[in-house]
Amino acid sequence: MSIFSPLNPLEPLALETERVVLRRWRKSDFKPFARMNQDPMVMEFFPRRLDADETRAMIRRIESGFEEHGFGLYAVELKENNGFIGFVGLSVPKFSTHFTPCVEIGWRLSSEYWGRGLATEAAREVMRAAFHDFGLEEVVSMTAIPNQRSRRVMEKLGMTTLPDDDFDHPLVPEGPLKRHVLYRKRR
Ligand SMILES: CC(C)(COP(=O)(O)OP(=O)(O)OC[C@H]1O[C@@H](n2cnc3c(N)ncnc32)[C@H](O)[C@@H]1OP(=O)(O)O)[C@@H](O)C(=O)NCCC(=O)NCCS
Repeated sequence: MSIFSPLNPLEPLALETERVVLRRWRKSDFKPFARMNQDPMVMEFFPRRLDADETRAMIRRIESGFEEHGFGLYAVELKENNGFIGFVGLSVPKFSTHFTPCVEIGWRLSSEYWGRGLATEAAREVMRAAFHDFGLEEVVSMTAIPNQRSRRVMEKLGMTTLPDDDFDHPLVPEGPLKRHVLYRKRR
């Protein structure tokens, strides 16, 4: 469900599902997000963990993405305790490769909330908004090949992958995480 701005009825301010609210970022999200970005489980499939300054810079980039595109990586708030538990949303990759320009759906949740279907529930709503509120034709998702949890979320969203779409992520250093799989879904 989209919650629209009273000033611009075409601009969704936030999205909502049964268990979560997907909203713009608040100051209070910084601490729990910085903690997540230091958690080796959460960051297992990224080249490295992020320090506090990198987390701050990431939130700034996410928020400027919202200003530029009208959508972004939403802060996820769990309704049962009003707590910040991570992000799910859309972004526009800045690197270029065979499938760019594109809009990517992505997620990162605090490990204590994994395994409850929350990423999939939030991502289904983001996918709906991508096609119906934002009028996108295609959404892609990508991850390091061994990241089975994330791939499972992509599959549950009805996204599909082709072997020819596998690619070496230009921003990931040489090593076991460089090779990525790409999933796509069309409107
Ligand atoms: C990926 C992530 C968002 C999933 O969050 P989540 O709320 O636990 O996801 P869901 O519960 O909706 O779905 C996870 C699915 O993966 C499955 N799964 C969990 N561990 C798995 C594993 N080791 N191998 C295969 N599947 C696995 C779950 O069983 C579930 O599938 P099911 O519903 O068919 O049983 C979360 O693990 C995360 O934040 N990971 C770290 C950040 C990250 O890697 N982000 C993606 C980078 S591209």
